Amino acid sequence: MTMQQPSNQAPLLDVENLRVTLRTAEGPFDAVRGVSFRLGRERLGIVGESGSGKSMTARAILGLLPHGGCLRADRMQLGDTDLCDLGDRAWTRIRGKRISMVLQDPRHALNPVKTIGRQIDETLCRHLGLSRRDARARTLTLLDAVHIRDPERVYRAFPHEVSGGMGQRAMIALMVAAEPEVLIADEPTSALDLAVQNQVLNVLDEQVVGRGMGLIFISHDLDLVSRFCDRVLVMYGGEVVEELPADRLSDATHPYTRGLIDCAPRLGQGRQRFKTLDRAAISLALRHEPADLPVAGHLRGVAEGLHP
Ligand SMILES: Nc1ncnc2c1ncn2[C@@H]1O[C@H](COP(=O)(O)OP(=O)(O)OP(=O)(O)O)[C@@H](O)[C@H]1O
Ligand SMILES: [Mg+2]
Repeated sequence: MTMQQPSNQAPLLDVENLRVTLRTAEGPFDAVRGVSFRLGRERLGIVGESGSGKSMTARAILGLLPHGGCLRADRMQLGDTDLCDLGDRAWTRIRGKRISMVLQDPRHALNPVKTIGRQIDETLCRHLGLSRRDARARTLTLLDAVHIRDPERVYRAFPHEVSGGMGQRAMIALMVAAEPEVLIADEPTSALDLAVQNQVLNVLDEQVVGRGMGLIFISHDLDLVSRFCDRVLVMYGGEVVEELPADRLSDATHPYTRGLIDCAPRLGQGRQRFKTLDRAAISLALRHEPADLPVAGHLRGVAEGLHP
C-alpha cells in the first residue's frame, strides 16, 4: 500500500536549509546543519547514528528547542503557515493540533498523574472544541481504532498501569486525536519487543494511511525503515547525506549509509568482531575534517574527561 504524493501537489511540510545552534558549556554547537526536505502524504524515514541530529530536526519542526537553542531556516512551511516566526501562542495552536509527535516511551511522554482517557479527552476539547461527553465517546472510539481490546479499562488507567505496547497505542490515539496533518514518530518502537513492535507499527500505519497524514519516522533500524517507509533521509553530523526510496536502501552508495548497513547485525553470521564506521572515508566523502563534526566534537569532550 503506497501513499506517496504526486509531485505536482503542494507538500504538507517544506523545510529548506534548517539550521539549529545549541548553547553548550564549550560554546555554540551546530546540531542541525542545513537540512532540507519536503514531506507529502507519505512515510518519510530519517535514519542515522546516535547524535546525528534526527531528534533535533524533529524538535525544530515542533518549535521545541532546548533552552538557548536557536533555529534558522530559509523556509519552514506547514501548508500555508510559516513556522519560522511563530510566537508561543501561535505554537500552541499548531503543536498537538496540526503537528504531533509520538515518542519512544509512553510512560515518560504521557502525563503520569492523569488517566489516559482524560488526556485524550482534554486534547479533543481543546483542539476540536468537543463537550466532555462527546470527547469521552470519541476517546473510546479512538482507543478501539488503535486495537485496544478493553477501551473502558484503558480509558480509566494511568500510564504506569498499562504495558509498553498498550501505552504506545494509547499515545498514538492521543497524537492522532486532533487529526494532525503531520505526525512525527521518534523511535516509537525501540523499547518494544519484536512482536509488539509489529503490532504498534501496523496501528501507526493504519492511522497514517487512513487519515492521509504525512509521517516522519525516526529510527536507528535501517531494516525496519526500509520495510515501513516510502522514502528515507540518511543523516550524519547534522546533515542529510543521502536520500533514497526506502525499498532501495540496500543500494545506497554513500560511504556512511553503506557503513550503517554493514554495521547492522544479521542472523546466521556466527560469532565475529562487530563492524564499526570508517569515519575517515565518510569525512573524505563529505569533505569535512572529523573534528568539524558535531558528534566528534561532542564525544571529544567526553573522551578528554575520561582520559586526562
Ligand atoms: N540540550 C542539548 N544541549 C546541547 N547539545 C545537545 C542537546 N541535545 C542534543 N544535543 C546534541 O545535539 C546533537 C544532535 O542530537 P539529537 O538528539 O538530534 O541526536 P539523534 O540523532 O536524535 O540521536 P539518538 O539516535 O541518540 O536519539 C548531538 O550531538 C547531541 O549531543
Ligand atoms: Mg534522538
